[in-house]
Amino acid sequence: MAAQPTKDDHFSFGLWTVGWRANDPFGDATRAPLDPVESVHRLNELGAWGVTFHDDDLIPFGTAAGERDKLIARFKDALAETGIAVPMMTTNLFTHPVFKDGGFTSNDRAVRRFALRKVARNIDLAAELGAQTYVFWGGREGAEYDGAKDVQAALDRYREGIDALAQYVLDQGYGLRFAIEPKPNEPRGDILLPTVGHALSFIAGLEHSDMVGLNPEVGHETMAGLNFAAGIAQALWAGKLFHIDLNGQKSIKYDQDLVFGHGDVTNAFFLVDLLEHGAPGGGPAYTGPRHFDYKPSRTEDMQGVWDSAAANMRMYLLLKERAAAYRADPEVQEALAYSGVADLRTPTLGDGESFGDFLADRSAFDDFDPEAAADRGYGFVRLNQLAMEHLLGAR
Ligand code: GCO
Ligand code: MN
Ligand code: MN
Repeated sequence: MAAQPTKDDHFSFGLWTVGWRANDPFGDATRAPLDPVESVHRLNELGAWGVTFHDDDLIPFGTAAGERDKLIARFKDALAETGIAVPMMTTNLFTHPVFKDGGFTSNDRAVRRFALRKVARNIDLAAELGAQTYVFWGGREGAEYDGAKDVQAALDRYREGIDALAQYVLDQGYGLRFAIEPKPNEPRGDILLPTVGHALSFIAGLEHSDMVGLNPEVGHETMAGLNFAAGIAQALWAGKLFHIDLNGQKSIKYDQDLVFGHGDVTNAFFLVDLLEHGAPGGGPAYTGPRHFDYKPSRTEDMQGVWDSAAANMRMYLLLKERAAAYRADPEVQEALAYSGVADLRTPTLGDGESFGDFLADRSAFDDFDPEAAADRGYGFVRLNQLAMEHLLGAR
């Protein structure tokens, strides 16, 4: 069942995903290092379209300039041999101990300047490799103790950093857009811009807010107890879904980074339905990369790494097929109509109706029968049951 992934599906993977050696706070690595060049070839064979990476995934922190050029050159050769794209790049501002109190928002100004310079250098490489999106995930931008961080000053410095880099991109004439990736916690006790909503509000106050959007991750919103598909709907509504990190997460706990669909499969079904078709009543679909930010579990050997990479793409395609069947089912369309889902698209005030006209409309209030309207059933359970039956392949 379901097609093999092809480049037309626009599936991409972080080098840090398949390349994760599975070291965690309790145990050592269980897998050998993976050459980024091998990852490009293997992902290409599996049907992926793109790879993404942090500067340090390709060029270890502290690499001398000459060696850096060599690493980039052999990586470019692998891209050319496979036709694999680099749609997104990002910066590691979290592994080296210098970033233990953050990058853009470290209490140490010299660290903040170093972080800004590290990002600018990698933005040059992103432009060179033709990336369209540059992601900012502020894993260390936060605190464990409420007295340790002036959150308002930290937000000022965060904004200063993004504004300065956006201006740099414009001055250089690079065709890059920025995408902020929210996360509530881990590795910091609390991270700044913890959810899609916080990030949207922050973006609205930026100098070049038009070129800054979101890179929401399934696991991160779920860790905050939020509904990911609903958050993505708001991001699309705001025109800010620039990129997406797909993975799996079971409820509020540590960042599990499971295969996409291996967490809350019902939410994943409605997410894919939304990304592929837009909202049921109309509204924009998502046209950007389908990017997987998962971790092959610590129990897996190298075969398990590639099997799990393939599983992400297959889960997406299976859900895409199930969502298409759901949309095409006449009984679903009838149930959607019964539920009034598309009726919500109709503005509450009439076309050209003034508020005075509205107040004068007796049918809205004086003659309205709330008891009769309250008798209506919405049939949402039946609609959801139809969705579950499609999801389970029962229809
Ligand atoms: C995490 C994050 C990261 C980011 C990556 C790209 O929880 O570790 O999801 O994997 O996505 O740093 O910015
Ligand atoms: Mn994550
Ligand atoms: Mn992520």
